[in-house]
Amino acid sequence: MRQIAIIGCGTIGVSWAAYFLSRGLAVSAHDPEPAALQAFTERVAADMATLGAEPLTPRLCDTAADAVAQADLVVENAPESVELKRGLLRELQALAPAGAIIASSTSSLTHSDIAGETTVPGRVVIAHPFNPPHLVPLVELYGPDPAVVERLADFYCGIGKQPVVMRREMVGHIANRLSSALWREALYLLQEDVASVADIDRAVTAGPGLRWAIQGPFLTYHLGGGQGGIRHYLEHLGPSQQYRWASLGEPEMNEALKARIVAGVEDATRGQPLDSLFARRDTRLAALQRTLGEAANEEMAP
Ligand SMILES: NC(=O)c1ccc[n+]([C@@H]2O[C@H](COP(=O)([O-])OP(=O)(O)OC[C@H]3O[C@@H](n4cnc5c(N)ncnc54)[C@H](O)[C@@H]3O)[C@@H](O)[C@H]2O)c1
Repeated sequence: MRQIAIIGCGTIGVSWAAYFLSRGLAVSAHDPEPAALQAFTERVAADMATLGAEPLTPRLCDTAADAVAQADLVVENAPESVELKRGLLRELQALAPAGAIIASSTSSLTHSDIAGETTVPGRVVIAHPFNPPHLVPLVELYGPDPAVVERLADFYCGIGKQPVVMRREMVGHIANRLSSALWREALYLLQEDVASVADIDRAVTAGPGLRWAIQGPFLTYHLGGGQGGIRHYLEHLGPSQQYRWASLGEPEMNEALKARIVAGVEDATRGQPLDSLFARRDTRLAALQRTLGEAANEEMAP
């Protein structure tokens, strides 16, 4: 696949475009909002700079038809609305070449929600990136036609992404369900005044978050069992997991909790502008990727 059409040029469309261009692919782009299209080239160049790539220019298109006309892969990044995506995916199927795969970046919606009634549902694949896709390798795939999903997974592997293929569809896919489970408990801890926003965040970044860039929850607990591995962990600490699960909270997203979240985040970020927080996140993510890539190369060296 050489020609990629980006449909929807907001946060995710920009980042996807930067990644595809950095991998030598041709990108055309459409957004019905003129301001989004005008800002697109500059925003893509900024993300490419974080990747250390020379800025390349996407082809901006006034219509979706023009953007997808030559596409091998259409990447839909429109707002998270069932009605909007249903209509848009139907339209993109009609406009794109017959062999093109249509990938939706939806964070939470299922294939049945948005593509179940399209003319050839198998052409449409959920391909959920993790933000920002130009720096985070995960992309979660689900589609009803295994051959199409396999083709897309091979393509993503070939350009350095790390796809996971879901056996069945699920609201929020995998990574966002895990993120939501963690955030629900973080909000409960805040609601119960166990710690500040800054300290709850630090309890992730200075602790489990460091390990999670290297190993997921299963491998983490395998090593938590010491020389006895996961079997010993389950015997020794399995009951304490159940003890904790029984006390996990169910916070209510009411106005009082929302006000507390906003005040806590403002306190934790001490007036730092969002642009500097984005830049700090992206340079550190890029540095982490480099370090992890170097470690993987050393492991593979003879
Ligand atoms: N932001 C995230 O962290 C994140 C992560 C992964 C996936 N996603 C998913 O990516 C998609 C886009 O999210 P975002 O954060 O980039 O949103 P965004 O609001 O930043 O961008 C959406 C863009 O879509 C455009 N748009 C509106 N109607 C459209 C249409 N009919 N056709 C094409 N474009 C249209 C808007 O003008 C806007 O530029 C959503 O489905 C979201 O769930 C978001």
